Amino acid sequence: MRLGTPLSASAFKVMLLGSGELGKEVVIELQRLGVEVIAVDRYADAPAQQVAHRAHVIAMTNAKALRALVEAERPNLIVPEIEAIATDELAAIEAEGLATVIPTARAVQLTMNREGIRRLAAEELGLPTSTYAFASSEAELAAAARDVTGFPCFVKPVMSSSGKGQSYVEGPGEIAQAWRYAMEGGRVEQPRVIVEGRIDFDFEITQLTVRSRAADGSIQTSFCAPIGHRQVKGDYVESWQPQPMSAPALALARAIAGKVTEALGGLGIFGVELFVKGDEVWFSEVSPRPHDTGLVTLVTQHQSEFALHARAILGLPVDVSLREPGASAVIYGGMDAKAIAFEGVDEALGVPGADLRLFGKPEAFERRRMGVALARATDVDTARARAREAAGKVRPVRGD
Ligand SMILES: Nc1ncnc2c1ncn2[C@@H]1O[C@H](COP(=O)(O)OP(=O)(O)OP(=O)(O)O)[C@@H](O)[C@H]1O
Ligand SMILES: [Mg+2]
Repeated sequence: MRLGTPLSASAFKVMLLGSGELGKEVVIELQRLGVEVIAVDRYADAPAQQVAHRAHVIAMTNAKALRALVEAERPNLIVPEIEAIATDELAAIEAEGLATVIPTARAVQLTMNREGIRRLAAEELGLPTSTYAFASSEAELAAAARDVTGFPCFVKPVMSSSGKGQSYVEGPGEIAQAWRYAMEGGRVEQPRVIVEGRIDFDFEITQLTVRSRAADGSIQTSFCAPIGHRQVKGDYVESWQPQPMSAPALALARAIAGKVTEALGGLGIFGVELFVKGDEVWFSEVSPRPHDTGLVTLVTQHQSEFALHARAILGLPVDVSLREPGASAVIYGGMDAKAIAFEGVDEALGVPGADLRLFGKPEAFERRRMGVALARATDVDTARARAREAAGKVRPVRGD
């Protein structure tokens, strides 16, 4: 492994596809190692673009535009930060040896579609999941809910994230509405949904799992302490680490995470989402990149999930150990407006053990994540209370 000088012929170059708040922290970690970073998004001044060497605005779902940019920039690594990318073109780019896709083009293709990853996890790897079926029409959905999952169930577009187009369905009378909502909220004009039986879990976790290069050149898998989180309408509002759980459940969680990340392959961090009830664990989904609930690791681990990702993709050693308990609480825009401002930052940072990230997004929406409050403490309950308190003190206001 050899790292050069950024902005020179010896530079090691990383191109980020998607430049949100998670990408911003990855860029900062890469910058610290003297990596040249090119941040791409579909809008200007996205968070990671503000800390990169160069920024480009393109439609990342446009295969031609994506290829043209890769050929112009010639990055060593391409690091997808979002799912809405022309992944078939990434596969072609990888196959030609033009750049390495993190973790692999196939992993990015499989995980962008709920059908790909669910069939891999449940049908090929035999991992425990909820009952599920796929449907391409309202009639198919009604039949699948009746015959396969029963009620209550969840209906989700196969191509969507952050809870978009997702419904919790309590009976047959709600199917038509769920189908319509999924068609509006899906990412592409593909009329296809997954319906999942509800898992009646005690709690859910993100098992951050890192595939990194060992000293002998082989790939090793490391597991961070489990992260607990609370979701509202498919979007995370609060997370904490470590989530207490039984030794058998933790062992099972890691066995599942190890299997699915090995099947996806490549180098980097993965966010494996799991449901836990007593000693039982179910696989839900996996992101081949840092996970939003993992923002908490900025205050809990010696190396945050962003530092771990940066190191792992460069082939460098990682340390996943926990430093101390902590929590994160999301700060929403609370309004639809551009160039907003934040008041109360001083009060928030006055909360013991508190820290803050304001992402710098140029435009706020009512439910857009604009920042996150973080807090450390000697126990998770105190950390959660502190993070919530700090988040509550930050007041988004109109900037004009
Ligand atoms: N089968 C299920 N049983 C119980 N709860 C579920 C099920 N599916 C989803 N949920 C709940 O809804 C949340 C969001 O679901 P999921 O992770 O599939 O959606 P998503 O759109 O990919 O969200 P994100 O992108 O934020 O991870 C889960 O974290 C969980 O709280
Ligand atoms: Mg999820």
